[in-house]
Amino acid sequence: MKNTHIVQRHSPEDVAMAARDWFVERCRQSIVERGKCIVALSGGSTPKRLYELLSELNDRDIDWPKLHLFWGDERDVSANHADSNYRMVKESLLDRLRTSKPVVYRIPTGTQPTDRAAREYELTMREFTGGGPFHFDIVLLGLGDDAHTASLFPETMALSITDRWVVANQIEKLSTMRVTLTAPVLNSSQNVAFLVCGENKQWAIDKTRGTHRNPRLYPAQLIQPIGDLWWFVDSAIKI
Ligand code: 6PG
Repeated sequence: MKNTHIVQRHSPEDVAMAARDWFVERCRQSIVERGKCIVALSGGSTPKRLYELLSELNDRDIDWPKLHLFWGDERDVSANHADSNYRMVKESLLDRLRTSKPVVYRIPTGTQPTDRAAREYELTMREFTGGGPFHFDIVLLGLGDDAHTASLFPETMALSITDRWVVANQIEKLSTMRVTLTAPVLNSSQNVAFLVCGENKQWAIDKTRGTHRNPRLYPAQLIQPIGDLWWFVDSAIKI
């Protein structure tokens, strides 16, 4: 990990605006340096406002076709299901854009066994890199109140996988399957940003950032990017 940055703002709206400005800046920098910007989006509810704010930007703010949007995790549902992370991004960002479109890579859940969806997505990512390593420019993550991130939940199988980029993960406490990117590929990023709002996340933040290391119980501890780590938090969080 290079550096850790903390960006604290008063309200969730202020956090979303700060994250938007940061996102635009990082995108521009990646496009200048690499000709594209490769992003992993997070699900959950916190980033929704950020996506809405991004949808208001125009082609001068972001060169949208040079953005490649992947997902950090997906629920085991089809694209139009209310729980779909893809659908959340589609409704809050993609459908609202009045500009040229980014390139979108949906995790293909809902129409096939979860494990096959995970393998297909990994193949998509491997084809994208032409066989080389995968490097994100930006990874957006949320933090669950049990210290999960993406769909890396406490005491689940995916936590120990290091030779796959994408796996199906059984989440017993939710009686469900999820597809998640693994920690090694999420960490292969120039910038990883957690967006965390609300005092109900305090315990998870403390465990994730604390000195007692136990990633099986606090999976967000696995996030240690090759680049910079960013925390975007509101004033309800003590950090
Ligand atoms: C998901 C996630 C998950 C999420 C956290 C935080 O699909 O649910 O990607 O890791 O980011 O649970 O969710 P909130 O932002 O809703 O608190």
